Amino acid sequence: MTVRHAVPSDAAAIADVAARTFALACPPSTPPEATAAFIATSLSESAFADYLADPARTLLVAESAVGAPFDGYAMLVVGEPADPDVAGAIRIRPTAELSKIYVRTASHGRGTAAELMTRSLDAARSAGADGVWLGTNVENARAQRFYAKHGFVVVGAKRFKLGDRYEDDLVFERAL
Ligand SMILES: CC(C)(COP(=O)(O)OP(=O)(O)OC[C@H]1O[C@@H](n2cnc3c(N)ncnc32)[C@H](O)[C@@H]1OP(=O)(O)O)[C@@H](O)C(=O)NCCC(=O)NCCS
Repeated sequence: MTVRHAVPSDAAAIADVAARTFALACPPSTPPEATAAFIATSLSESAFADYLADPARTLLVAESAVGAPFDGYAMLVVGEPADPDVAGAIRIRPTAELSKIYVRTASHGRGTAAELMTRSLDAARSAGADGVWLGTNVENARAQRFYAKHGFVVVGAKRFKLGDRYEDDLVFERAL
């Protein structure tokens, strides 16, 4: 497995791994149609083409020896958070959001996510950030443990609209 920076031609393969992994981060009570709608709008090939073209974003992919399908991906967004709850919670600026870090189930616990995390933090440092924040669902215990292992602490809470209801997220932050 190698982690590398994504290139524009990776958009379809990232959308594929994103569609396979998004529901893993959602509470079991999430309506399947809400998950499907989010995948169709925010995790489509064209959405990732836009993300890849955005200079504020860095996308990383974890690639097995055979290439796609990818084992996982991460997306970092440099800049001040738009969400006022997050802006009020974080303590370190300039900041970057670890907006997505998703690994296929078969690769959990095997170091893939750790490598994506290390490389995302490196990218944030290179972009001039002094801190990194992220949001994760209050019920996502595995992700919370993973973030704690990587030096993140809870600094606040925010809401995430999925379908027609709001999910409760914890806001984590760490210094670089
Ligand atoms: C979050 C994610 C990237 C972490 O990668 P990972 O390879 O699973 O992480 P690790 O195995 O290194 O760490 C997970 C830790 O949680 C622990 N864990 C697993 N299930 C748990 C649970 N239900 N409650 C608490 N801890 C749990 C593991 O034992 C491990 O801790 P340990 O190393 O001390 O034993 C990965 O699980 C993933 O892609 N999940 C689905 C998508 C997701 O939730 N992404 C984050 C969205 S914010």
